Amino acid sequence: MKAQQTSSAHVLIFPCPAQGHVNSMLNLAQLLALHNLHVTFLNTEHIHNRLTRFSNIESLPARYPTLRFKTIPDGLPEEHPRSGERSVEPLQSVKVHGKPLLRDILVQDRVTCLVVDGFFGKLANDLGEEVGVPVIHFRTIGASCFWTYFCVPNLFESSELPITGEEDMDRTITSIPGMENLLRCRDLPSFCRPTRAKGEPIVPLENIVSETHQTLRPRAVIFNTFDDLEAPALSQIRRRFPTVFTVGPLHQHRESKAPTATNTMRSSNNSIWEEDTSCMAWLDSQPSRSVIYVSFGSVTTMSRESLMEFWYGLVNSKRRFLWVVRSDMIDAGEGKDESIPGELVEGTKERGLMVGWVPQVEVLAHKSVGAFMSHCGWNSTIESVAAGVPMICWPYFADQQVNSRLVSEYWKVGLDMKDVCDRKVVENMVNEVMLIRKDEFLESAEKLAVLARKSVSEGGSSYANLDRLVELIELISQ
Ligand code: UDX
Repeated sequence: MKAQQTSSAHVLIFPCPAQGHVNSMLNLAQLLALHNLHVTFLNTEHIHNRLTRFSNIESLPARYPTLRFKTIPDGLPEEHPRSGERSVEPLQSVKVHGKPLLRDILVQDRVTCLVVDGFFGKLANDLGEEVGVPVIHFRTIGASCFWTYFCVPNLFESSELPITGEEDMDRTITSIPGMENLLRCRDLPSFCRPTRAKGEPIVPLENIVSETHQTLRPRAVIFNTFDDLEAPALSQIRRRFPTVFTVGPLHQHRESKAPTATNTMRSSNNSIWEEDTSCMAWLDSQPSRSVIYVSFGSVTTMSRESLMEFWYGLVNSKRRFLWVVRSDMIDAGEGKDESIPGELVEGTKERGLMVGWVPQVEVLAHKSVGAFMSHCGWNSTIESVAAGVPMICWPYFADQQVNSRLVSEYWKVGLDMKDVCDRKVVENMVNEVMLIRKDEFLESAEKLAVLARKSVSEGGSSYANLDRLVELIELISQ
């Protein structure tokens, strides 16, 4: 990281209003501020109020003097749930109501570069052109899924899409350049499926594909990934997109060259949920690599029946488990108050801990954690990779179906439970990853973790790309 004088560039960073997006873009904001750029982080009021309640963002401007926060309303009533099936409505509403507000900020605050979530791609490209502010897209998903979205029109042309039904799900997809024969129909992003999972947010595939193609317009695109992790997709993307910055894992960059364990971006907490830190003391008291950490991110919902399958599977595996069960995780209308069978209560008391939200990066880095059962949101995936923790994948929607295939078939750091929710399968997979094939999975996960650390260290690709990104921002801000 280069020492610089405070720059005259003023970057506006605008994430999609959702936990996974705010997380990685706030990490980028801090890194750019560390490079002495002036950074304004724009949130919706709803997200900002939650961050103010549950995270330490109010302390950030003191730590990063060139970083400040600004908010705009998301246009929805306060009582709107903003979760589950309706979790994409804030994004849609901001696209409609936010345009004049964003235009005013760009002009009045003399913004010199807009780094915007790819989900706001068209809005930002159009506004940037109108007011003369250069735009850079940040894609919070992995490069492999981004490339898959980009290739969806080819899949229709080659008749590999549409998927005709359940009987078609194991057909191999051959015409994604660089990823030939890796994905089956069931590994394509969920929006390619003919049916939606219960509670899955409603997002038309055409919208995703057209937003992805909007990323051909800006000055550059940023990914929270690293070159060694997704080389085949990245080499294809680099042929089509002129300027690509792979800068991940963003949370793993060091704030200074001092080699301390806590000296990384995520020593700040970017949660919009209240963290229950008591789990750290519980983890301290467990044997090394003995705990499976279970979390399905901030959006996934499930039926009570599925929850019970996971619960039985975890208890019957006889492994120790730490499970994040969000207060809004069970599908609306399904009895939360029904009684819990005695064997589950006993098994959890003996070997488990269930909490509402945890400091996930710290949990994954804890020596007691031996594996991660995850929905494979991109942040969770790259955090697990960075920590060298093997995974068991139960993807829910969007990019997660692609990510879980990478985990099991490309990186070979875990197992993919996709489309199955059965207590015996959960029990068997937990034991396979935590016991039977433990050494094999830990070894391949550690190899990836070494590459991740290398990428953000001096001389590594993400380290160098971050410097190049700062240089580009300086250049286009003049
Ligand atoms: C969403 C989509 O689901 C995901 O597919 C897409 O890639 C990004 O946006 P989400 O479902 O929340 O995100 O998953 P993920 O990307 O994994 O982000 C969750 C974030 O919350 C992670 O950074 C994780 O560290 C954090 N988290 C999760 C906590 O801090 N504590 C928890 O208890 C659970």
